[in-house]
Amino acid sequence: MRRRMLIVGNWKMNGLIETAQELADGIVAGLGARSGRSLPCEVVLCPPATALLTVHQRLGGSVVKLGGQDLSEHESGAHTGELCGIMLRNVGCRHVIVGHSERRADCGEDDAKVARKMAAAFRDGLQPIVCVGETLDERERGATLAVIGAQLAALVPHVPRELAKRQTLVVAYEPVWAIGTGRNAELEQIQEVHGFMRRQLHDAFGADAARMRLLYGGSVKPANAGAIFGLEDVDGGLIGGASLKSAEFLAIIDVVPEKF
Ligand code: PGA
Repeated sequence: MRRRMLIVGNWKMNGLIETAQELADGIVAGLGARSGRSLPCEVVLCPPATALLTVHQRLGGSVVKLGGQDLSEHESGAHTGELCGIMLRNVGCRHVIVGHSERRADCGEDDAKVARKMAAAFRDGLQPIVCVGETLDERERGATLAVIGAQLAALVPHVPRELAKRQTLVVAYEPVWAIGTGRNAELEQIQEVHGFMRRQLHDAFGADAARMRLLYGGSVKPANAGAIFGLEDVDGGLIGGASLKSAEFLAIIDVVPEKF
């Protein structure tokens, strides 16, 4: 069984068209300059919706893929301000982030809604990158594994079994208290949660769980990325702040180990 390491850049609500172009160009050029060796990972960029089409054009035939930051659970219709999966596909996306903690907090997305959005992504031919994670309060109460377990359990019935056979589901563990704070989870804390998630997915999907990728996110930087990616059940990273500078993002890709 092979899992390919995956590095996702989440640009969040940052940048206009010009900065998005510059950033995409910098990343493509940097990866091109490294093409003497084949990349040890897949790379996905998730710009704000207004820059998706432009970034898609800049990525051209490069190995870098495009993702949305969110999608509607609906297929089309009267949902002002929303984007559906088909629209994301139409501007070149193959991936989409679902259930980011900022959306869970800002937009009241609960586990059931996140599961419906994940199902919509599968329905519309997008690879979902589903975020889970505990708050500081939940960690301090000793509820981390219960929270992650419930977030994952809500997803399980909505993963199409035939897709579970392929490398489709991506789960990103992002402790809410480590996002954008510069505060890092300890390596043991990360492996504990990732190992727990792998076992839970194995209980639900059997051998197919070995194909599902588990990313870590939360203040990942070039200085800590290598140690995090080296952990047994970490298959890559979801990178926020450090994905906004091409040099930093490329430096993170440089420390991805050849694991699988
Ligand atoms: P951060 O964000 O790397 O800035 O902590 C990660 C994320 O929210 O996906």
